[in-house]
Amino acid sequence: MRIDGARVLITGASSGIGAATARAMAAAGSRLVLAGRDGERLRAVAAETGGRAVVGDVTTDASGLAGEAAPVDVLVCNAGEGWAGPFARMPAGRVDALVAVNLTAPIELARLLLPGMIDRRRGHLVFVASIAGAVGVGGEAVYSAAKAGLVVFAEALRDELSGSPGVGVSVVFPGVVATPFFARRGVPYDRRWPAPIPPERVARGIVTAIRRGRSECYVPGWLRLPARLRGAAPGLFHGLARRTG
Ligand SMILES: NC(=O)c1ccc[n+]([C@@H]2O[C@H](COP(=O)([O-])OP(=O)(O)OC[C@H]3O[C@@H](n4cnc5c(N)ncnc54)[C@H](OP(=O)(O)O)[C@@H]3O)[C@@H](O)[C@H]2O)c1
Repeated sequence: MRIDGARVLITGASSGIGAATARAMAAAGSRLVLAGRDGERLRAVAAETGGRAVVGDVTTDASGLAGEAAPVDVLVCNAGEGWAGPFARMPAGRVDALVAVNLTAPIELARLLLPGMIDRRRGHLVFVASIAGAVGVGGEAVYSAAKAGLVVFAEALRDELSGSPGVGVSVVFPGVVATPFFARRGVPYDRRWPAPIPPERVARGIVTAIRRGRSECYVPGWLRLPARLRGAAPGLFHGLARRTG
């Protein structure tokens, strides 16, 4: 779909991948509505990109956000957060919070904004998942489950929308991205490989996925290989993953 002139809602636009996506879409000529909780950082991105800032929590006010943003041609569900550690030690409350932001809020925003897209025969939904939603990652069990839920939700929606011309659905699977994500979850990324990629690379993947109507976009692209191997031969994949870390 053409994104110049399109009205685009990006959640989690105050930081990292969402802010980079706002810059990329502004450069492509989109009209932006930017959502996030941190008003100061969000307004700075809005000023830079000519977008409108809507400050709020997607887990508690998806309908307010959708109402402020509508009509929306492109919805980029990007807001998310992680939690890392053994599942058996996960504190009460963190499960609900993680599922709310990574899974329930994107579903709710899609529910609110998709009917308008179908009526206008023009629209695109983008769900920012994670490689952890394609292969279960130990130490990130609930985050993996929430992102995997998003992936299958998108697949089901794509199936439903096959009879709705002009409306597309993309899932983006970032690997390790250099953003405040790891500091915020309280557990830094400490592997030597793979090296974190810049958020601008994921933003380019999002723009391409919308323009070309791609169902799936792995960033970096080689991540599709472990995902495919996990699907075709899960035993082999997990054996290799354990051996190579
Ligand atoms: N970084 C990675 O390695 C990586 C890898 C795979 C997938 N991802 C996914 O990419 C997405 C963006 O993450 P990032 O790396 O850019 O992290 P980030 O820099 O920490 O940005 C996260 C964004 O989500 C927003 N957010 C979080 N909880 C929210 C809530 N309850 N309501 C509204 N906004 C909320 C934050 O808003 P405020 O700052 O305003 O609170 C922020 O704008 C997430 O869905 C994440 O799961 C990241």
